[in-house]
Amino acid sequence: MRTLPLSKVYQLLEPGPVTLLVTADEGRANVMAMSWHMMMEFEPPGIACIVSPAGYSHEALEKTGECVIAVPAATMAERVVGIGNCSGRTIDKFERFHLHHRKAQIVAPPLLVECIANIECRVVDRRMVRDYGMYILEAVKAWHDPAQARAPMFHHRGWGEFAMDGDIVRIPSNMR
Ligand SMILES: Cc1cc2nc3c(=O)[nH]c(=O)nc-3n(C[C@H](O)[C@H](O)[C@H](O)COP(=O)(O)O)c2cc1C
Repeated sequence: MRTLPLSKVYQLLEPGPVTLLVTADEGRANVMAMSWHMMMEFEPPGIACIVSPAGYSHEALEKTGECVIAVPAATMAERVVGIGNCSGRTIDKFERFHLHHRKAQIVAPPLLVECIANIECRVVDRRMVRDYGMYILEAVKAWHDPAQARAPMFHHRGWGEFAMDGDIVRIPSNMR
């Protein structure tokens, strides 16, 4: 074993799927890439996520308390990284990245049609926002595209490196 710089720890635990966080500020929808998220509860699903105060998405989430988490397939990886490398403050990312959207059922931000799944969420806890930019969300409605049920997702490993989903295996487990 050798020392691993603490700055690299996140790259070990990081690989949840890269997602897209959709917000809407006074009717103006925006989207950012988001890989710092964590499940907290099965049902209703609780999700913790870090949304940096530097971004426009943070402003919108803070104001409205609503968002959609969309899960893109690996085939969208380059587009998603592009979305995560610019700000909706100055760009219409829907136009720039040719994103198709449709109205969500419960929240104001739209669903992303090309994604594997979309989760409509409401902010339920802001206690960690000031210190960590961490919002606790509750999923209030979820959608998936059956045509993409087996589509591989992709995972951020840091510094421009990504892992694409590979084989799915079954190992008996007591975890639900
Ligand atoms: C792969 C990837 C993952 C990212 N994950 C996060 C994240 O979890 N939280 C965050 O605040 N920013 C994350 N970012 C950065 C935001 O997506 C980026 O700051 C975005 O451009 C903000 O856009 P906005 O100003 O329109 O909100 C990520 C970027 C990339 C490329």
